[in-house]
Amino acid sequence: MNHFLDNSQPRQILDEIFAETKRIKDLFGLDRGKDYLRKALKHKRIVLLFSQPSTRTRAKFEWAAKILGADTLVVSEIARTSIVKGENWRNTIKTYAYGEADIIVIRDPRNFAPMEAAKICDYYGFKTKIINAGDGNNLHPTQALQDLYTMKEHFGEKFGKEKLKIAIGADLKNAHVLHSLVAGLAQYPVRITLVSKKNFSMPEKYLNLLIENKIEFKATEELTEGEKFDAMYWVRLQTEHIPDVFQDFLKKHYNRDFKITPRFLKTFLREDGVFLHPGPRAGEIDDKIDADLRVKDGNQVENGLYTGMAILKMMLNPNFRFPRPSEI
Ligand code: CP
Repeated sequence: MNHFLDNSQPRQILDEIFAETKRIKDLFGLDRGKDYLRKALKHKRIVLLFSQPSTRTRAKFEWAAKILGADTLVVSEIARTSIVKGENWRNTIKTYAYGEADIIVIRDPRNFAPMEAAKICDYYGFKTKIINAGDGNNLHPTQALQDLYTMKEHFGEKFGKEKLKIAIGADLKNAHVLHSLVAGLAQYPVRITLVSKKNFSMPEKYLNLLIENKIEFKATEELTEGEKFDAMYWVRLQTEHIPDVFQDFLKKHYNRDFKITPRFLKTFLREDGVFLHPGPRAGEIDDKIDADLRVKDGNQVENGLYTGMAILKMMLNPNFRFPRPSEI
């Protein structure tokens, strides 16, 4: 694995990532297992360059890197970097690369900023690899890994074999997690229902990807009572991509039309289904749904730690072999 910038990995690579994730998760559950994990990235240097707010993704990569024994540098206050003195993106990336960063994990409000960083590293021949931890309203490729892994864990053997029926809502235009999710799901047998108002619909590029991959899908403004889904994946209104003057109005309507309540789940989610949400929650969820065991956004966060470790390890030390729990 060179850079990790998008969700173009074929199913075989995704399945390898999930197999490594499972090994890591099993080891992490054992005290002695943690000692083995710590050897995987000893002396590696990982920079977290986060110029947009993040709770989960930043914690995921900082913890994942530390558990695997890497040294980390977290840069999350851009106001305290030389960017405010006028340093451009090229020289910022080159600076960390000259400083022997093995990986720079980038969260940035600009679409394609991590892809540009990868080109800069390649152009100058640096060993530094880039992970896209969310670029603008484009993609959030590593979030899709934990989402798919959580579905795989929930559905077991069924995932990847049976055509699961999945509803995805509702700010499909702006939620980078949903673009990545759809690209990842396109590798598996699924039937997708895209739920959104028309100004918040899925960009054509991802619809075309579904068509190319022969994925059955439909788009609708609202779900029809009587329909039931194996999985439902919802997001908040992505206010950071919407002009301030519209926000209050849109948020009120969005939460009225798309609020996830116990009744909503009772109506649309199968008894053995799963409800997922990438966080942060911002009013579009009634916290009463937490009593429902099908709500697994906490598992998504936990699995993010393991999928995060899996890709760091596969990118930096692919030949390092973790023992099976029975071998330690
Ligand atoms: N899911 C997600 O990306 O959350 P953060 O913005 O808190 O990292």
